[in-house]
Amino acid sequence: MSEHFVWGIKDSFLQYVNALPDGSITASNGAILTPKNVFHFPLTTSTSDKFESSGEISIHGHHGMLDVTFHHLTVTLEQDKAVISVQVKGRSMKIARGHVIHHTPEEIVISTQVTTMGSELLGGVYQAGTDMDPLTIHLNSEG
Ligand code: HEM
Repeated sequence: MSEHFVWGIKDSFLQYVNALPDGSITASNGAILTPKNVFHFPLTTSTSDKFESSGEISIHGHHGMLDVTFHHLTVTLEQDKAVISVQVKGRSMKIARGHVIHHTPEEIVISTQVTTMGSELLGGVYQAGTDMDPLTIHLNSEG
């Protein structure tokens, strides 16, 4: 399979949306939602310290009041630190920070914690620093 991110954002958030009478979670522009409720985002750019995907995610509920839409998930690494950013309505937002917890030629696993901006995107419910789901970057090991 080609290089891609695997990220569920935050499992409890997706479960909450799935439980809403009008909740909807969609993935487009190459991104997919798997039956395990995690997103796969194909990588469009991959260097040793920057990984990007053009996939788009759209999460709706509460009669349109809940509208979390983003695209262009980007992970930037600096040694063992990671910054996760996305494009929201033409604006780049750093939504999470993290640490590399596992690094092999095939995959990089990153712990993620929500930033203040990421919390705003998700309705201000989570305190900055709250754990989100780990994010995995699957790489082509043959280089
Ligand atoms: C009519 C407006 C809304 C109502 C009545 C509402 C109601 C609720 C309730 C009752 C919970 C607790 C659910 C539980 O613990 O099982 C919750 C959690 C949450 N809501 Fe909303 N909400 C609204 C709008 C929004 C919006 C606009 C957003 C995001 C942009 C949002 C994001 C969240 C998040 C992230 C959680 C926490 C989910 C988790 O991790 O457990 N909500 N909301």
